Amino acid sequence: MKKTNSIRVFAPGKLMLLGEHAVVYGYPCISFAIDRGVTVELSEGLRADKVTSSVSDDRFIRVAKDVFFQKNAVRRVPMHITIKSEISGYGLGSSSAVAVATITALLQFYAISFSKQKVFDLSYEAVKKIQPKASGYDVATTIYGGVILFDGKTKQVKKINIKDFPFLVGFSTVKADTSTLVEQVSEQKERESQRIDAIFSSIGHLVKEGIQAFNNRDWKRLGGIMDENQRMLSMLGVSTNRLDEMIFVAKHHGALGAKLSGAGGGDCIIVLCWKNSKQIMYETLKKAGIPMVPLNFSSKGVRQL
Ligand code: PMV
Repeated sequence: MKKTNSIRVFAPGKLMLLGEHAVVYGYPCISFAIDRGVTVELSEGLRADKVTSSVSDDRFIRVAKDVFFQKNAVRRVPMHITIKSEISGYGLGSSSAVAVATITALLQFYAISFSKQKVFDLSYEAVKKIQPKASGYDVATTIYGGVILFDGKTKQVKKINIKDFPFLVGFSTVKADTSTLVEQVSEQKERESQRIDAIFSSIGHLVKEGIQAFNNRDWKRLGGIMDENQRMLSMLGVSTNRLDEMIFVAKHHGALGAKLSGAGGGDCIIVLCWKNSKQIMYETLKKAGIPMVPLNFSSKGVRQL
């Protein structure tokens, strides 16, 4: 198979707008891509494989390579892989972005034709080697870009037709441990299955309402749905005092809605506001002591640079 010399691939980070945790149990969720992400550069090396990475956890590069070579009958050559991340440590999806960018770069390097579905299948398989319960929503988001409705059961993706929406992101300064939180919820589900199932089912309904709000560009309604989803996450026990405090401050200053994004336990909050008050809100929340993360929406998914 023909090989290409040097490949550079960018995969965006993501945020979870509605539906975390429930998506692990087959419910849908809504997530979206951001304009910051991970760049993977891959070229043929001289002797052994070499990885230079600004991401401390290099397991995702290793599993991505392993899965790629298991599934593709190509001649293995020494490779230099360089990873640069703009999103590590915030819960913005650097692990899945690394896996997706590495798989995409390898497919390009070996000039293998591929579809988004193929990149998803290979990357998701890689991610599951490290996080066996992962729903795959983050892998799908970085591949497709924009806002997506992700089905936790079928893993199908539906892109929501939207160019941008007015949100801000604040960082709790605590890095969440997704696997531990997913395990915590799973143990709780075993202890109190009816209560937890009822919460998941309500979250599933909120996601459906969220899609309607998106389609109608009804940000006030979407904000209310985010608040309701946050209440459900608190009931699951995955919010923290710091996250609650940040959300309270955002709401106090007029946010349309605010919630944690992802597993909980730390990482970031998403704040929804009116488009014309976005800049003022950013400054106000910063002054109020919330470490704001300057990032924007991105309608684009993984791509070769
Ligand atoms: O913390 P993150 O961004 O990895 O998101 C976790 C979201 C969960 O629903 C809790 C897990 C998953 O794989 O969907």
